[in-house]
Amino acid sequence: MSSAAPRPFAAAPRGPLTGSARVPGDKSISHRAIMFASLAIGTSRIEGLLEGEDVLATAAAMRAMGATIARGDDGVWSVDGVGVGGLLEPEAALDMGNSGTSTRLLMGLVASHPIRATFVGDASLSKRPMGRVIAPLSDMGAEFTATGNGRLPLMVRGIAPAVPIAYTLPVASAQVKSAVLLAGLNTPGITTVIEPVATRDHSERMLAGFGADLTVTDSPAGRVIALRGEAELRPQHIVVPGDPSSAAFWLVAASVVPGSDIVIANVGMNPTRTGLIAALRLMGADIAEQDARSVGGEPVADLRVRHAPLTAITVPPELTPSMIDEYPVLFVAAAFASGTTVARGAHELRVKESDRIAAMAEALTACGVTVAEHDDGLSITGSGGAPIAGGARVASKLDHRIAMSMIVAGLHARETITIDDAAPVATSYPDFFDTLQSFTN
Ligand code: S3P
Repeated sequence: MSSAAPRPFAAAPRGPLTGSARVPGDKSISHRAIMFASLAIGTSRIEGLLEGEDVLATAAAMRAMGATIARGDDGVWSVDGVGVGGLLEPEAALDMGNSGTSTRLLMGLVASHPIRATFVGDASLSKRPMGRVIAPLSDMGAEFTATGNGRLPLMVRGIAPAVPIAYTLPVASAQVKSAVLLAGLNTPGITTVIEPVATRDHSERMLAGFGADLTVTDSPAGRVIALRGEAELRPQHIVVPGDPSSAAFWLVAASVVPGSDIVIANVGMNPTRTGLIAALRLMGADIAEQDARSVGGEPVADLRVRHAPLTAITVPPELTPSMIDEYPVLFVAAAFASGTTVARGAHELRVKESDRIAAMAEALTACGVTVAEHDDGLSITGSGGAPIAGGARVASKLDHRIAMSMIVAGLHARETITIDDAAPVATSYPDFFDTLQSFTN
């Protein structure tokens, strides 16, 4: 898994980005495709699956719990599911590597099956809080033995039948929402999640596609998602759209490197994921949507991005959930804007694959950028479009998005920026370096 040897990477200017490239399959959707197909009875096919380490960890776990999962020579994956209620007890600990999504969603699945499973992960994942899923899943009847204050390694003892709950999310988290809904799949009655702030809705869309009885309504308390349990999921043919969180690096790179003009093809445009595009446009970025279409029930477009001078903004707080994974690279865009960008209200960044507020403050400061750190974000004074100083060795902290963001920063720096370890890029974007090469050769 993410035990690869450290892989330093020297990021230096390569001139404008040009040409066209596709982004790989969406990570969130790929996890869910494997999980839901593993719970259907019959054979599902998945096209465009992200073959990153995180998704492969999900596939390995579902195999360990009874699903048959194989990749065809044509790159299409086939999954034979065990049916809701049919998960087997895994013989060994489930190794989640670096993946919080795998861990939290699978904890939900195990919670309502009469099996026990142990979850382990890498040093980054072992620091991340699991109490946020342990709390509602305990209300449903599952039992947990965790390390320290709700950390991995942890053991889940599931229960069947579990108790349906109505749960209001205390933190805007699609992972927590999904964990409760997935536990609800094998729970009699109606499991309800109320989200005061809307988060990515891939679970809801895809569960409905698999035939689950699920309703989504708006109420004064927020979005109410109600799922009827003991669901029977029907196998599907899924086409995974490209990941907007992977497109993000090229959106910023082309915006800040003078002379750039690229097309990023196959970008998922689900409105719960497009906050970075909105923020960059507010900063003056030149992003045009081409060939808007629907892929696998999700909106998709090709994005033409041309270099444009960026101006600082105060990031509107309502954009936070729809760009939660894109803050590191937004901070890089801010480093090249004119004026001081203020991005606050994003305290959750402290508990991602790394503390992304501290990691980006440290890395950008080392590269000569003026940064003020707040408990819930950063203020960044940009270069007004000029190259930043660079010339530093920065730490990626086992965080793929820190590594890729600082590589983007290096594309417009006076001196090379060395990333101490770019190996974590493989968790979400194994083709990142090939695409970098193709945009800059
Ligand atoms: C994800 C939800 C988000 C996001 C993560 C993927 C998902 O996490 O940061 O990369 O697929 O549900 P939170 O639920 O912690 O916000």
